[in-house]
Amino acid sequence: MTAFRLAHLSDLQLPPPPLPFRWRDAASKRLLSRFAWRRKQRRHIRAVLDAIAADVAAHAPDHVVITGDVINFATPEEFAAARVWLEGLGDQAEVTVSPGNHDALSAAGAPKSFAPWKPWLGDDDRGFPYLRVRGPVALVNLSSATPTALHLAQGTLGAAQIERARALLRETAEQGLFRIVLLHHPVAQGVVAGRKALTDAGALRAMLAETGAELVLHGHAHEALMTRTAGPAGPIPILAVPAASTPVGGHGQPARWNEIAIAREGAGFRTQVTAHGITAAMTVETLGGYVLC
Ligand SMILES: [Fe+2]
Ligand SMILES: [Fe+2]
Repeated sequence: MTAFRLAHLSDLQLPPPPLPFRWRDAASKRLLSRFAWRRKQRRHIRAVLDAIAADVAAHAPDHVVITGDVINFATPEEFAAARVWLEGLGDQAEVTVSPGNHDALSAAGAPKSFAPWKPWLGDDDRGFPYLRVRGPVALVNLSSATPTALHLAQGTLGAAQIERARALLRETAEQGLFRIVLLHHPVAQGVVAGRKALTDAGALRAMLAETGAELVLHGHAHEALMTRTAGPAGPIPILAVPAASTPVGGHGQPARWNEIAIAREGAGFRTQVTAHGITAAMTVETLGGYVLC
């Protein structure tokens, strides 16, 4: 049986379009973040992101997952620019976005419920968590994106979202689907500092320990990670990728995307992961692969 191939990339941090100064931004975290961007702008390079996106397109995956921090300051202009970038990736129904803390940086002026990105969140109007079923895969798309105080980059799911995810994971388990949970923040303990952590990660882990999931994908740490959390039938693998716009020699791990091939095998699934990364010559090479489960 041919495998269902999923591309996972994260933390695009698309460079912001130039903006006129606005007084209502003056007291906000957004303005302070724009000062921070002056320091950070060489960390996230558009040409790197474009090379990664071209490599993803060349591999023609069945579906693309982006786990947040698509933009930097959550301005309406950035949401609109990101729409154009996302449209360039292909069919909206085959690209799923889980928003990050940078996509929800400031409550004021940020589009409600990520409305400009609606075609990339899910298939209906249910709100988070969205469910997308594609081939043998059920994507349970959570949002951990919440506006936070200055110098914080925390995320929160909320009890209601965790309860709805519990129901979706049970339903899709009964359907025999390969359940992938998407969110921006890390799930395992100690991956990031407390000021950057998911505030209710414990409640999410408790829910996953009961319902199970076949895989969890996240971003935010800007690192290639494989961690795990307890499931009812053994550990659940959790994968993260570095930011998709970081050059070789930049701040943090160079850009990378994971190709995840999922095939039914016997009563279960076989999952193969292949990592593709940016080089100093700005090409993208296959770094290696492994069988996950
Ligand atoms: Fe990020
Ligand atoms: Fe983040």
